[in-house]
Amino acid sequence: MKITHVRAYYKAAPDPDVKAVDDVSLTIEEGEVVGIAGESGCGKSTLASVISLTTKPPLYLKGGTLELDGEVIQLTRELKAPDGWNGLKVALLPQRALNSLNPTARIAKFVVDVVRAHDRSIKPEQAIKMAQERLEFLQLPPRVLDSYPHQLSGGMRQRVVAVISTLLNPNLLIADEPTSALDVSSQKQLMLLLRQLLANGFIKRIAFITHDLPLLSNIADRIAVMYAGKFIEVGVTSQIVEHPRHPYTHALISSTLDPSPEVRHHRLEGIKGTPPDLRWPPAGCRFNPRCPLVMDICAREEPPVIGDENDFALCWWFQQQKEKRAAAGQLKEAEAK
Ligand SMILES: Nc1ncnc2c1ncn2[C@@H]1O[C@H](COP(=O)(O)OP(=O)(O)OP(=O)(O)O)[C@@H](O)[C@H]1O
Ligand code: SF4
Ligand SMILES: [Mg+2]
Repeated sequence: MKITHVRAYYKAAPDPDVKAVDDVSLTIEEGEVVGIAGESGCGKSTLASVISLTTKPPLYLKGGTLELDGEVIQLTRELKAPDGWNGLKVALLPQRALNSLNPTARIAKFVVDVVRAHDRSIKPEQAIKMAQERLEFLQLPPRVLDSYPHQLSGGMRQRVVAVISTLLNPNLLIADEPTSALDVSSQKQLMLLLRQLLANGFIKRIAFITHDLPLLSNIADRIAVMYAGKFIEVGVTSQIVEHPRHPYTHALISSTLDPSPEVRHHRLEGIKGTPPDLRWPPAGCRFNPRCPLVMDICAREEPPVIGDENDFALCWWFQQQKEKRAAAGQLKEAEAK
């Protein structure tokens, strides 16, 4: 799955539009779990609704492309989701998914509704059989289908919703904060379940959205850090957690992980201030009003992408560091000659 230069804004007339997703690109390879992390309000759920093509006004698609299974979709304001995109190709486990369970209906009814919403040719009994078989395969008790939501624990409810949402074997699962209401042991069980779904080919790739970087460091192969509507750093999990390149990632890691004293010495402590109002994002780098390493250029010009599309940081300071290292390397080489 590849998204390129994706933009999606909320209409906020008479104010300017809210630039919630603003020029975002990312590739998720088959078999990969990519974590999407960032503070509240940075655009994670908006991006999830763009990729699943479930945007609703006042949110509208401004531009960019989505590419999945060889199909390229241009994101325009008038776009209608192709048949089978949502649910069959991309399954979204939305933030507060548990609220979507009807408290007065058994889980089996939810199975039938979800499956038939995406494929009307599947009969209700067939949908229930599919769910029973999948639950058995995953060593979850099929009898949960006869239960009402309140009869299941929070953890079990979330696992069952994950299984039902992926019954049609989507190419991509987007899980938006699926663990935020769960205790640690239920979080672990859900992560194991997602990995199991991936390993058995029931889903091909996962985008996992959370504030919780320690959690991501356990499940994600790569992490994309989002700030104020943009990915400001993308890299393999160990790079992001142990050697973050962007000052915002440093700050996020310092405020959520517990780096060793030696590492902490070089890191920012927590993040001061709050993310900007995306109707009026700051000029240049959007992090500049909060960045302790800010330079004159940061408030004037958008920082360049340093790296390639799957492994980069968007930062003037990081570019300078890279140039300094390169110059020092050249000097050493010249001295050695
Ligand atoms: N209906 C709306 N109208 C206008 N602006 C909105 C609307 N919904 C969200 N926004 C704005 O879009 C931005 C991105 O919101 P979004 O919900 O995508 O963030 P998020 O990263 O998922 O946050 P959280 O971690 O709290 O779930 C925020 O600035 C938010 O205020
Ligand atoms: S571009 Fe400048 S303001 Fe932005 S993160 Fe880098 S150093 Fe800080
Ligand atoms: Mg959200």
